[in-house]
Amino acid sequence: MAAASKSHVERHTYKGVPLVAHIKPEAMDIIRDLDVRDDDVFIVTYPKSGTSWLQRIVSLLRFGGDVEKTDQTEIDVIVPFLEEMCGESATLREMREAQSPRMMKTHTRFDQAPLQLTQGKGKAIYVARNPKDLAVSFYHFHFMVNTLQTPTSFEEFLQNFIHGEVSRGAWHEHVLGWWQHKDDSNVLFLRYEDIQKNTRKQVEKVSEFLQWHVTPEVIDKVVEHSKFSKMATNPATNKVEGKEVKAGIFDTSRGTFLRKGVVGDWTSHFSDEQSQWFDTFYREKLGPSGLQFDFE
Ligand code: PPS
Repeated sequence: MAAASKSHVERHTYKGVPLVAHIKPEAMDIIRDLDVRDDDVFIVTYPKSGTSWLQRIVSLLRFGGDVEKTDQTEIDVIVPFLEEMCGESATLREMREAQSPRMMKTHTRFDQAPLQLTQGKGKAIYVARNPKDLAVSFYHFHFMVNTLQTPTSFEEFLQNFIHGEVSRGAWHEHVLGWWQHKDDSNVLFLRYEDIQKNTRKQVEKVSEFLQWHVTPEVIDKVVEHSKFSKMATNPATNKVEGKEVKAGIFDTSRGTFLRKGVVGDWTSHFSDEQSQWFDTFYREKLGPSGLQFDFE
């Protein structure tokens, strides 16, 4: 983490929501107007909530647990990043012409997501993570991403995070926007901590939701090959030589994408005081919604 800081990184906003510098605001308009197909699958998250875990689970399910086949192509090609695909005419065309079922990941808020998706077409799997572990993960991520400004301290980062002055804006607005639609028939709302607790159960939920019916043996394979230890040592999933490294967005000399993959790492970063004001802030924001998280 001692590498020189990126202290003047450009940042865009889209309708008041900050965006990482390499995402073009014009792409967000294209996303909103996207022609969604009935069998499209969108993995939707606020950053650092378990996107890549779901990318892996969904890819393995799609290929019936065939690990060799799934590993032939890197995860970000099998399940590309919608915001990046919509930023260039060539990748947009590629996405428009892609074979069904298309699988995509996106960090869009509900009110900025593809309109047709929000109206019931296609399927969205939303993954939420407790804000303390998420903030720690996001903090470390800021060091390795060239298009994110390096935080000067964890305290400064927490202040920016809580005030929505980080890419994708306020976490609670993002998560609550999707939580309010958790009962829509085309939305599956998952929690990172539940996947940690019982991966098999959550994988079964995903398979049922997508109506990609697979045998218990396939579920076993999906669970096994989506484990953190497996993903961290697999070039198809650990992003060490992936699309974003090649594009100069990730600098792997400054950090590791699959960093720890645990629940409760926040305890080694937050002071008691930070923990208390964070809890108070989010209790007030989330309290009335009924949305709760495990923190250990
Ligand atoms: S991104 O950049 O928004 O797409 O990142 P995202 O994939 O959402 O989040 C990265 C964090 O998820 C952890 N992760 C996992 N944890 C447990 N098991 C598996 N299989 C797994 N895959 C990814 C990853 O390690 C990041 O969390 P931290 O806490 O930084 O380790």
